[in-house]
Amino acid sequence: MSGNGRRPVIESAALVKRFGSFTAVDRVDFSVEAGSIFGLLGANGAGKSTLIRMLIGLLTPTSGSARVAGFDIAADPESVKRNVGYMSQRFSLYEDLSVAENINFFGGVYGLSALELKRAEARVLALAGLEKERNRLTGELSGGFKQRLALGCAILHTPRVVFLDEPTGGVDPVSRRLFWEIIYGLAAQGTTVLVTTHYLDEAEYCDSLVLMHSGRVVARGSPTELKRSRLEGTVLETECSEPAAALKTLAGADWLLEATLFGTYLHVRVPDESYGPKVRETLSGAGFSVGRVEAIQPTLEDVFISVIDEKGRGDVPRA
Ligand SMILES: Nc1ncnc2c1ncn2[C@@H]1O[C@H](COP(=O)(O)OP(=O)(O)OP(=O)(O)O)[C@@H](O)[C@H]1O
Ligand SMILES: [Mg+2]
Repeated sequence: MSGNGRRPVIESAALVKRFGSFTAVDRVDFSVEAGSIFGLLGANGAGKSTLIRMLIGLLTPTSGSARVAGFDIAADPESVKRNVGYMSQRFSLYEDLSVAENINFFGGVYGLSALELKRAEARVLALAGLEKERNRLTGELSGGFKQRLALGCAILHTPRVVFLDEPTGGVDPVSRRLFWEIIYGLAAQGTTVLVTTHYLDEAEYCDSLVLMHSGRVVARGSPTELKRSRLEGTVLETECSEPAAALKTLAGADWLLEATLFGTYLHVRVPDESYGPKVRETLSGAGFSVGRVEAIQPTLEDVFISVIDEKGRGDVPRA
């Protein structure tokens, strides 16, 4: 199927999932353009996996609708399943099978012919850099290899859309980087990628993002748009002694928009850059020794913490 131009490949309209009286996904609307990388972000329990499971035809929505790869998820979940790839939050590989046996098993699930399977295996082994591991037991592979094999198994049938639910959890930075190179490669070939992650550096790699909180979409846009438009004022990166205690001192100032701990620094959001001296005086006056106070370009983390603070932090862990 081609000729879709820039038509959305995923379109979700007021999608809701309730478990008993609990609403896990609450009227979620968004669309994803063909060939783009779409990031779904949110704290634990925000509803990301539930949303994905509806979009791939595994879970029936309570209300609302969605079309994925041209099919209605409620009316035609079987066609949806055939046209998407899915890498679940816990990789569903068989540890006691070899790499090639896993590929063969999943190829069989997708109904590939022997010839298709042979080609798919070669393509996936090359894509994942697993040619030398072909006959190794999957359980013996490193986390990074397993992750790339799981991705390979999710795209054996060359789906138009692939859903990756926290694919990089628990793997090292080099493996994460390699994995993202594969994601870029897939998108460049026209595959649409929806990915969830807790790593905000990875969110920066996405063309477009949605932030979920308690089942709802609370922010959306490209990383640049979000950083430019969502945050009122200026973020001052502030170096000072005892940052955790300094945070409490700043909290009382009526001009403060927000202050958070960023590693060993504070990120102090103020109406504009001219508040730098005030931040310095307030902290020095309370006995802290203050180093650099510098306006910085806000990070996605600044934006998301601020958006979630507006909505009520709930159980969201602090950076
Ligand atoms: N089958 C179910 N029955 C009841 N509640 C459920 C079910 N599945 C998920 N939930 C609840 O729905 C909420 C959203 O869960 P979900 O797994 O979608 O969150 P998530 O954003 O993927 O979180 P994480 O980042 O931890 O993976 C949670 O409160 C979860 O306990
Ligand atoms: Mg999840």
